[in-house]
Amino acid sequence: MADTRPSPTDARTYYHKGNTAYEKGDYQKAIENYNMAIILNPTFSEAYFNRGLCYYNLKNFDKAITDYTKSAELDPKNAVIYNNRGDAFYRKQDFDKAIVDYDKAIALNPKYLKAYYNRGLAYACLQDYERAVEDFDKVVELNPNFAEAYHIRGLAYDYMNNFDKAIADYDKAIELNPNFTEAITHRELAKQKKEGGGGGAPGGATADVSGAGAQQGGINAVKLLQKPTMKWTDVAGMEKLKEDINEAIVYPLEKPELARKYGKLAGGGVMLYGPPGCGKTYIVKAAAGECSASFINAKISDLLDMYVGNTEKNIHAVFETARKNSPCILFFDEMEGMGGRREDMGGSMQYMKMAVNQLLFEMDGVEANNQNVLVIGATNAPWDVDPALRRSGRFGKTIFVPEPDYVSRREILRMHSKKRPTAKWINYPRLAWAAIGYSSADLKSVVDEAAAIPWRLAFKTGKQREVTTWDFIAAIKKKKSTLNPWYEQAKKQIGQQEEKTVVDGKEHVKITESKLAAAEKDSFKELIDVIKKRNELWNKIYVWTIRHVALYIPLPF
Ligand SMILES: Nc1ncnc2c1ncn2[C@@H]1O[C@H](COP(=O)(O)OP(=O)(O)O)[C@@H](O)[C@H]1O
Ligand SMILES: [Mg+2]
Repeated sequence: MADTRPSPTDARTYYHKGNTAYEKGDYQKAIENYNMAIILNPTFSEAYFNRGLCYYNLKNFDKAITDYTKSAELDPKNAVIYNNRGDAFYRKQDFDKAIVDYDKAIALNPKYLKAYYNRGLAYACLQDYERAVEDFDKVVELNPNFAEAYHIRGLAYDYMNNFDKAIADYDKAIELNPNFTEAITHRELAKQKKEGGGGGAPGGATADVSGAGAQQGGINAVKLLQKPTMKWTDVAGMEKLKEDINEAIVYPLEKPELARKYGKLAGGGVMLYGPPGCGKTYIVKAAAGECSASFINAKISDLLDMYVGNTEKNIHAVFETARKNSPCILFFDEMEGMGGRREDMGGSMQYMKMAVNQLLFEMDGVEANNQNVLVIGATNAPWDVDPALRRSGRFGKTIFVPEPDYVSRREILRMHSKKRPTAKWINYPRLAWAAIGYSSADLKSVVDEAAAIPWRLAFKTGKQREVTTWDFIAAIKKKKSTLNPWYEQAKKQIGQQEEKTVVDGKEHVKITESKLAAAEKDSFKELIDVIKKRNELWNKIYVWTIRHVALYIPLPF
């Protein structure tokens, strides 16, 4: 604000810094600034709201919901907050809750076009097409020139097998926008279905409702291609991993001819796996920032769509965009979202099965055409990734992203603390030992927690001080590592398995070493070794001792 002098303790200064970063698309940085704004002014509704927007854009819908909720508590008459929280629920496919929020938004603002539109989409997802149509009626009443609204209402009629009304709506959409290819396709299909006597599911209709508030159909290619601005220098520690990734990703894409000559591109895909919060996503983004190739970040949950045919269409579109923009890194994050092995999937999971098949098909295509598209997958649950995808030629190369070692922990703590008002001298080595077994994300929240201590104090006493080593120690005591459950799960999944099969009416018990085939053990060797080591008594004693010495032995600093 113009009338207040900017000072680092002014919440609005951070708020505005956050807005600038937000506009540049640097959500991480924006969040950091909003964090500060909120610490300085815990009743700053807009800061919560904007941080919620960042999380929403980062597809962290749970955190977005938490922030919108806080913002709504502080500003309960603001329709936009409810609408946006509705969008976050929608993206989590929690349509009932989304509708409750859109209801609230509409109650506060009965002319809120977007809320009607989104509520209509939510009803459509719940297959309540009649209510959906009511909402789209309202949308076109509020804006009679909104082509997409006619199109989507047409789809709803289409799904109700009311082809006349569907065709009339498609006509209207095309009249308003003669280049509306989806509406043209759907009109053709509706006409065919009408002639065919209707009935059955509208198999050809592929409603794109993949984004709440989506105003245009299809996955937006421009949005897909967002090159990260991160570099290796943003990645603290993890030296060996950086080397591996340079070799598997950066160098082959920088010099594809050379890499091909030495057979380095032959693998097709690279799979990163490891415990959550240890930097898989983060490191791929940095690697993409390092090379001149284009980058597509495709999170599996965004591609899955319950409408028949849409998932395949989405996956195909992503590969097409990658091919058109080669050399290109195509990153499929959170592969476990594809929901287990094909053989485990029941009927309701059909669309995931289709997704896996489509992915297999496209990846073979990449290989066959030898295009400069490098597919990278990442997952916390490699055992849940379809074995066909793990076979060589698809995600032939696997890279284990382990929890940070001592040096990495020290550097990660140091890097995140840099953005904080810390004392001149912090005993990072001691903190790194105390935080043994922590993930990178855990370390980050330790820094957040430590920095909050003096701020909270400043509120109570009005006196400010810097963040000290003792604040960090207190934060580490309070925030434990979140990795144990993951290792438990990994052990269960990769360890010995008892499998009951029925052959010729007789039950056979087959003890297999693990869910992974013997040949796959090699691919996940590093994880198997880590689990083995963790289970050894000496290692448990070692970890306990290191942590407790670092946390509790009094030292003068
Ligand atoms: N090497 C690193 N240096 C600095 N921060 C890191 C590093 N690795 C991870 N982080 C932090 O931890 C967070 C979680 O990492 P992320 O890549 O999302 O984990 P994963 O994808 O493995 O679950 C990141 O947002 C980042 O802030
Ligand atoms: Mg991730």
